[in-house]
Amino acid sequence: MKVLVTGSEGMLGRVVVTTLDLVHDVTGVDLADGDLTRPTDVAALFAEHGPDWVVHTAAYTDVDGAEQDAARASAVNGGATAGLAAACDACGAGLTYVSTDYVFDGDAPEGYMEGALRNPLSVYGRTKAEGEAAVEAMSAPWQIVRTSWLFGTGPRNFVLTIRRLLGERQSLNVVDDQTGSPTYAPDLARVLAHLLIERPTGVFHATNTGVCTWFDFAREIARLSDADPERIGPCGSIAYPTPAKRPACSILRSHNLEAAGCPERPSWQDALVRYIAQLNTNDRNDQGE
Ligand SMILES: NC(=O)c1ccc[n+]([C@@H]2O[C@H](COP(=O)([O-])OP(=O)(O)OC[C@H]3O[C@@H](n4cnc5c(N)ncnc54)[C@H](OP(=O)(O)O)[C@@H]3O)[C@@H](O)[C@H]2O)c1
Repeated sequence: MKVLVTGSEGMLGRVVVTTLDLVHDVTGVDLADGDLTRPTDVAALFAEHGPDWVVHTAAYTDVDGAEQDAARASAVNGGATAGLAAACDACGAGLTYVSTDYVFDGDAPEGYMEGALRNPLSVYGRTKAEGEAAVEAMSAPWQIVRTSWLFGTGPRNFVLTIRRLLGERQSLNVVDDQTGSPTYAPDLARVLAHLLIERPTGVFHATNTGVCTWFDFAREIARLSDADPERIGPCGSIAYPTPAKRPACSILRSHNLEAAGCPERPSWQDALVRYIAQLNTNDRNDQGE
């Protein structure tokens, strides 16, 4: 298939391009190639690339920034997604939309199945929910793939932040009252590749397996980075106020991926071992070993 991947310079998009490229004829596009909030740019991209399927990873992802910039967040996450959905409908192309656990309120301690009601707490979550609603209304085949707590190659992510802070401070506190599932971008890319085989329409929950708090995640990052995990202490979200409210428990429970024959995802701990090994290899290469 001719697959167009949006957000191809982003943390997820870049690994989606390399993963899908093994099987499909893939073109990655990012903001420099066209602003997806502009219908003329979307039309030009479709005219140039003629996709059979679009994997839409581009988004306004600054969760706290969105609280101040709701109009832009809505234009990108809601409006641009609706524009892509309409363009796909017009030519019969399928659309995979990557979405988020932040469409849920986090009040369900047992987590959320794919059909659970959306009730976002933040502007970011609300605008991603707007995008979901536009995709669900499509007549062409569509997939909504919700994920959470992404980490992978790129300039910024939680793993890099914790490793940097461990280098700068003797001790730090990390919130222990938000529970979810960290997800390694290459593992998510493999799920997206699987979903492009049979191309089922529907909502899917794709994370690494296992659940933890940010505090648990941070301590495991320390342990795997040869730092003493005891240097990291727990704190409540109240001690670390952020502009956007986050869900307390955003576990994404999965039924539909299994029904689609997708192999079980690796655990988040396994994924973290692989990512930190990659970071260590990069560090050694940078030092000229
Ligand atoms: N990161 C997470 O923890 C997380 C968790 C759950 C779900 N998700 C979802 O997963 C997807 C990928 O996230 P990510 O962290 O990989 O995102 P990312 O690194 O922020 O990448 C998003 C890309 O989209 C581009 N973009 C933004 N606005 C655009 C526009 N109007 N037109 C064209 N391109 C535009 C961005 O360009 P600029 O950088 O130049 O703006 C960036 O390259 C997103 O849909 C996100 O909502 C992420």
